Amino acid sequence: MVEQMDGHSVDTVARSEQRWAYVVAGTIFFMFAVIVYNGLHWVAQPPSNVETIDAGRLHLVGEFVETNLGTEVVSDRSVVVRVTAEQYSFVPSCIVVPADTEVVFRLTSPDVVHGFLIAGTNVNSMVVPGFIAEVRTRFDQPGDHLMPCHEYCSVGHQAMWARVKVVDRLEFARSYASQLRASCAG
Ligand code: CUA
Repeated sequence: MVEQMDGHSVDTVARSEQRWAYVVAGTIFFMFAVIVYNGLHWVAQPPSNVETIDAGRLHLVGEFVETNLGTEVVSDRSVVVRVTAEQYSFVPSCIVVPADTEVVFRLTSPDVVHGFLIAGTNVNSMVVPGFIAEVRTRFDQPGDHLMPCHEYCSVGHQAMWARVKVVDRLEFARSYASQLRASCAG
C-alpha cells in the first residue's frame, strides 16, 4: 500500500500513527501513575476508620461496657449504635434504629475477627479486635434485616447473627427513645 502512495500520504500516515502511539503511551502511563499513587496513598492512609481500643478491657471500661451497648439517640436526626461482636453473638442481638435517620454503627470485638454485614444494604465491614469499625448509613424504609457474621470465627460462626429492626421515626420516638440505650433484644 505504502509504495502506491505519494510522499505526502506516507508522511500523513506516519504522523497519524505516531499521534496514536503517543495517545496509547500516555493512557498507559496515566493508568500506571494512578495505580502507583493509590498504592502509596492508601498505604499511608487506610480507607477504613482507624481507631484503636484495648480489646482485653472492653467489658470493664469505656465506650463498649454492656450498659452503653445499643442505640443512643444523639439528635433528632441521628443515632449511634454500639455493638460488640464476640464468639458467638452480637450484643445486642436485636438492634433497633429509626428509618430516615443517620445511623452510625460502631463495633468492636474482644476476641477474634468477626464480620459485620446488614443484608439488603451495602453495610459490610470486618470487626477486628483492638480496632473500632465505624459505618455510617441510613435506612429509607422500615423493615427487618438479617445481620450475620461473615468472617469465620471458629466453631460457632454459623450461629452468629443478629437482627436489625428499622422502625418508623415516630414509632421509634414513642417506643424506644425513652430507653437510654435502645434495643429490641428480649
Ligand atoms: Cu463471628 Cu463468624
